Amino acid sequence: PKLLIMGPPGAGKGTQSSNIAEEYGVEHVTTGDALRSNKQMDLSDMDTEYDTPAAYMDAGDLVPDQVVNAIVEKALTEADGFVLDGYPRNPAQAKELEDMTDLDIVLAVSVGRDELLTRLTGRRVCDDCGTNYHAEYDQPEEDGVCDGCGGELIQREDDTREAAENRLDVYEENTEPVIERYRGHDGFVEIDGEQAPDAVWSDIEQAIDDHT
Ligand code: AP5
Ligand code: ZN
Repeated sequence: PKLLIMGPPGAGKGTQSSNIAEEYGVEHVTTGDALRSNKQMDLSDMDTEYDTPAAYMDAGDLVPDQVVNAIVEKALTEADGFVLDGYPRNPAQAKELEDMTDLDIVLAVSVGRDELLTRLTGRRVCDDCGTNYHAEYDQPEEDGVCDGCGGELIQREDDTREAAENRLDVYEENTEPVIERYRGHDGFVEIDGEQAPDAVWSDIEQAIDDHT
């Protein structure tokens, strides 16, 4: 199937997309991860305000559309089924996506602002394998060390309080209108993302099974 997962920063899109990719054998297409692996990419001939994605990302601002559109276009032509995570983030990107592909299901994961801030500022990420932890709710066995691969746990540059607040503001202004656009879509399903990860996952599985 062709799935889109939407929701604010910290809603659990990445966590649940990994479940979806594993369970349904689709490609996890994530602009956030793609940009993080190319943070120092040279944008100087693209007529953008800053010369690298890092300058936008660390502050929690959106990377220019032309950069992100190209990433998604390439990834989607290579994928059969997919779960798209982190795109579209504004109406212009939504328009681009419409020209690239149709969608079977749009999942909108909702979580309140206070909970999002707690999740984001407490998140710790393995520098090697990318596994998520949380400083209070999901601690590794050994302080600062990944259970899976032994890598170092770090805080994402954009998970500081200031950058996280900005990401939530950017989301409300630019991305929420996109969700409103999809609300009438046949496969649109709203998911309560405040529940525990397992409960969120079982709601998502149900939604996918109902629509495929
Ligand atoms: P991106 O990487 O997409 O970040 P985001 O949307 O801010 O999302 P996060 O990764 O922070 O959260 P998530 O919803 O995936 O939640 P997660 O599962 O990790 O984008 C980063 C930046 O890249 C943007 O700011 C922008 O600069 C740029 N960018 C990306 N796409 C772009 C685009 N299309 N256009 C322009 N720029 C773009 O979970 C979060 C935490 O909560 C974790 O610690 C997790 O363990 C925990 N958690 C998850 N689920 C639960 C639960 N149910 N209960 C309790 N804790 C939970
Ligand atoms: Zn690791």
